[in-house]
Amino acid sequence: MGTALITGGTSGIGRAYAKALAERGNALVLVARDLDRLEAEADAIRSTYGVEVEVLQADLADRTQVQSVVARLESTVDPITTLINNAGFGLHTDLLTSDTESDERAFDVMVRAVFLLGGAAARTMRRHGSGEIINTSSASAFISQGNYSAIKAWVLNYSESLATQLHGTNVHVTAFCPGWVHTEFHERAAIDASKLPPIVWIDVDKAVREALDYVAKGRVICVPSPQWKLAVGIARHLPRPMIRWVSSKLISSRHKAPDAH
Ligand SMILES: NC(=O)c1ccc[n+]([C@@H]2O[C@H](COP(=O)([O-])OP(=O)(O)OC[C@H]3O[C@@H](n4cnc5c(N)ncnc54)[C@H](OP(=O)(O)O)[C@@H]3O)[C@@H](O)[C@H]2O)c1
Repeated sequence: MGTALITGGTSGIGRAYAKALAERGNALVLVARDLDRLEAEADAIRSTYGVEVEVLQADLADRTQVQSVVARLESTVDPITTLINNAGFGLHTDLLTSDTESDERAFDVMVRAVFLLGGAAARTMRRHGSGEIINTSSASAFISQGNYSAIKAWVLNYSESLATQLHGTNVHVTAFCPGWVHTEFHERAAIDASKLPPIVWIDVDKAVREALDYVAKGRVICVPSPQWKLAVGIARHLPRPMIRWVSSKLISSRHKAPDAH
């Protein structure tokens, strides 16, 4: 069945991918920073699904540590057949701020690491003649909610470009663009999501199954759930000034905590 490498595989969306891929029989490589959590998650998956699980502790904001994940992706021993390029975090900074630390870390984790890992996986998979890459973008890629939207729009465009370059190689690339998912994301970024209507929330297990189905079929953009397909479908046809107006309303409805990253 092959081996899947999942960045951010210990929590939220990445954890749901880990379970879904283990269920279909893939061995796993889980990547995250917290080693205790990595080992606990690996033990739980081994005992529930009976698959092999490696853990790879790496801070993807650190160029040298990203290189250790690149090396695993390029390894010919037990090659990676599926990459879930997923680790990330929420960001709701002011674009005019002089304190750019969290934005720069966001570029490192959600742009540079995604690019380096995607390239390494694509090279190896193309050589082997097959493979799957899912990059976690977001429904916010289709609106203009600051640097987070801009970064996720990059992930979406990058995925389409990579899919185009790999066309005909039997290596499939999908940009996964979910709406709101109950994970640790909002709490970690001090985003108050408590007043959102239930319809915006999607079932993470269904969403990742949809993305896995998309990548297997070579479909490039996956917006999971009917309600978000409709919302994104409308957004893609609205005039951009209207998108900017909706985006500004969404931004002003957010609670901003001073210590948010
Ligand atoms: N939740 C949503 O509503 C939503 C919607 C659209 C898109 N997304 C995207 O989905 C992806 C996963 O987010 P989530 O919602 O599942 O959040 P989450 O529950 O907070 O999980 C984030 C995962 O990423 C890992 N991670 C974070 N920073 C890292 C770093 N510097 N190096 C290595 N690993 C790191 C975390 O592990 P450690 O802390 O141990 O490193 C954790 O496993 C992100 O790219 C996010 O932008 C989320």
